[in-house]
Amino acid sequence: MNKPIIAIDGPAGAGKSTIAQMVADRLGYLYIDTGAMYRAVALMVIREGIPLSEHGKIAALTSRLDIKFEFVDGIQHIFADGEDVSDAIRSPEATRLSSPVSAIQGVRKRLVELQRRMGEEGGVVMEGRDIATVVFPNAEVKVFLTASVTERARRRAEQMHQMGIEADVNQIAEEIRERDLRDSSRQHAPLRMAQGATLLETDNMTIEQVVDAVIAIHNEKTADPESAEG
Ligand code: DC
Repeated sequence: MNKPIIAIDGPAGAGKSTIAQMVADRLGYLYIDTGAMYRAVALMVIREGIPLSEHGKIAALTSRLDIKFEFVDGIQHIFADGEDVSDAIRSPEATRLSSPVSAIQGVRKRLVELQRRMGEEGGVVMEGRDIATVVFPNAEVKVFLTASVTERARRRAEQMHQMGIEADVNQIAEEIRERDLRDSSRQHAPLRMAQGATLLETDNMTIEQVVDAVIAIHNEKTADPESAEG
């Protein structure tokens, strides 16, 4: 039997990356950040100066782009055509463009194919917006992670503060609201909770509590019924 797939979906800033990475470490599974893949495409669109309205060109760019994840000093990095773009994809421009770029059907088709190939062997924690609804609807473990806009904006501002960047929490909240709306109202694979997913509202939970909750769901879903009967 294949090892399980853990699908974690949710809106921007809900802590999916942190949680998914920690769950993967604890279980010895592979962690795959699908948002980073959409961001990598957005970065290349910016660099090549392709107008956002040119869906065909953006889809063609996605098809020829070689996207890979590799470990560098124990941390997962993303490579686009051999270049480490892990930092560049976090720029405000790439962040802003990643949302409209991810709404292009040709982009999603190609990236979903890649994601299915990366996860087909199981033993992965994959996080994004449509993992349990589209990419792996049969994933053994499905979690929908969310928190209020206020809490997500507060966490993001704190993160930026730690990096030495002062940010206006109200402006961050506004950007989060906009991105939520765009990601959940788009035509192709909008953000929504999958059937059979467990909802985790994390406003009043610590990171450790959320990780424990996901691992508990994993253990429950993957428990061998025969040995339980024993
Ligand atoms: O999770 P993130 O902020 O890195 O994602 C960047 C953008 O990509 C975000 O606007 C939503 C989109 N995305 C998506 O449409 N589907 C995914 N599976 C992951 C991300």
